[in-house]
Amino acid sequence: DRVMTAGVALLAWYDRAARVLPWRVSPGDRALGVRPDPYRVWLSEVMLQQTTVAAVQGYFHRFTTRWPDVAALAAAADAEVMAEWAGLGYYARARNLLACARAVVADHGGQFPSRREALQALPGIGPYTAAAIAAIAHDAAEVVVDGNVERVMARLFAHPEPMPAAKPALIGLAAQFTPRLRPGDHAQAVMDLGATICTPRNPTCPDCPLAEFCAACAMGLQAELPRKLAK
Ligand code: ADE
Repeated sequence: DRVMTAGVALLAWYDRAARVLPWRVSPGDRALGVRPDPYRVWLSEVMLQQTTVAAVQGYFHRFTTRWPDVAALAAAADAEVMAEWAGLGYYARARNLLACARAVVADHGGQFPSRREALQALPGIGPYTAAAIAAIAHDAAEVVVDGNVERVMARLFAHPEPMPAAKPALIGLAAQFTPRLRPGDHAQAVMDLGATICTPRNPTCPDCPLAEFCAACAMGLQAELPRKLAK
């Protein structure tokens, strides 16, 4: 059906236009089925909570150079990790980062669990981050919903209900839209689309791989969706 065809178009766009980011597998390796390292996926997702991709990149490089795996990070001194985190803000994230690394080593034999439920039981990992790690690192068929996904769904399906009341409906639409194949690439494709084309303001619909499927674009409503409750 149409939703599935739109999903295929999005993955095809991701294969040619994905942002090259240090926690991702290169397009050539992706085509060979190489999976990203769960440690790097987890570290990037924690850093990207409340912080932009541009701000995260240097920190990610320094952390992974100094602590290349979860065992190395778990063994680091608290003060060293806090010093390396300085400038990223939301310092509870850094404390949870260390607690999580130590829990992975102590309770999971140094391997990140692959199931969403087990991930979500770890310090600093909420529903979004657990779903993102399970989908991106393990290709689990999880529905990953952040602000980008909510915006893209509200536009693709021209969902008129205002935020935040629309959230449950948008999660349902995201679930319909998530393919059984390549859910991790699908999640990252929606993130890239939301960051580069389906932006909050002035979306560039002529560049969008979903334009021909998008109900908002067909009606010229893209700038008005998602609606927000007047304050
Ligand atoms: N924002 C949060 N997670 C991301 C990811 N994996 N790629 C790009 N942007 C993101």
